[in-house]
Amino acid sequence: MIKNKKILVVGAGGFIGGHLVKKLLENKNLITAVDIKPKEYWFQDYENAINHYSTDMKEINNCRKVSKNIDYVFNMACNMGGMGFIENNKAECMQSVLINTNLLIACKENEIKKYFFSSSACAYNKSKQQDVFVEGLKEIDAYPADPEDGYGWEKLFSERMCRHFMEDYGIEVRIARYHNIYGPFGTYDGGREKAPAALCRKIINAKKNDEEIIEVWGDGKQTRSFLYIDDCIEGTLRLFESNYSEPVNIGSDEQVSINQMIDIIENISQIKKLKRDYQLDKPKGVRGRSSNNDLVKKVLNWSFKIRLKDGLKKTYDWMNSEISKHGSNISRFTKS
Ligand code: GDD
Repeated sequence: MIKNKKILVVGAGGFIGGHLVKKLLENKNLITAVDIKPKEYWFQDYENAINHYSTDMKEINNCRKVSKNIDYVFNMACNMGGMGFIENNKAECMQSVLINTNLLIACKENEIKKYFFSSSACAYNKSKQQDVFVEGLKEIDAYPADPEDGYGWEKLFSERMCRHFMEDYGIEVRIARYHNIYGPFGTYDGGREKAPAALCRKIINAKKNDEEIIEVWGDGKQTRSFLYIDDCIEGTLRLFESNYSEPVNIGSDEQVSINQMIDIIENISQIKKLKRDYQLDKPKGVRGRSSNNDLVKKVLNWSFKIRLKDGLKKTYDWMNSEISKHGSNISRFTKS
């Protein structure tokens, strides 16, 4: 585990970045944490254990400033969300290319030793995700390139930018393709939430308000693999410390349909079975997506540990308490 290093985490105010900072602090690293959001909207607090900046890393001079005297950089920053956000904000999503590019240039100038880029399953070729029961996506399935429009193109292009900075300038890079990460301290309303949080929220609210029906985007038969945040952080840190510099899936082996995930959340909430209003005109994304984990098992000797039902229980309990605290007020988790 990395210890006593000077580490810059960009996107530290977000979901994965917030959990990463917490883990790195436990191991006595010195953290410089950056996010575009004002500090009061960061998803986690660190009791001033960090240098923090609220600044826009699309600007190269900001990248230069915060990456001075740093050993390692984790780029967890991008303008993103679940399908509801990325399908309707393609230009916004693609501008995150500026963060990665300018940060890499600054890292080269400031002689950073190692750089992590958080990529996504959205980088994969869409034609391999047209059926409900698909084989897990292997890392080679990103090419020929036909990723998710907007957000996926940004991720694929940025992966390649990392690769060329390594080849041409010798910066060590590590690249994870995350498969729908979920858990506590993530966005659960406001439009950027992904399916696990959105469906927990809908079921919590149905229970509170004694409702019998929830809205579900699509027909509920679409499939995904979801990874709990603690597994994501462990996989990320193992990858960072490995010698492997090509993109690697960080995902779980449990492929479920959205209907199956709703069944699991209904069990957790102990609500009676809800009616499902399938909304076919809402953003649906690909028909089926899951992670093939052969490569990650081979190069990192790592596999996910937390079963979906256990991860959803922790997520549901956290959200239930947040929703009770905030009621219908906007919480900081709505700002991504
Ligand atoms: N967000 C959301 N909200 N999705 C819902 C809902 C709902 O209330 N009801 C059903 N769904 C369905 C969506 O229509 C989609 O088919 C599926 O659940 C998964 O949706 P998301 O979790 O929003 O996104 P995704 O899995 O298609 O993509 C996400 O994960 C990628 C990594 O695997 C996105 O967050 C991407 O940004 C990310 O890269």
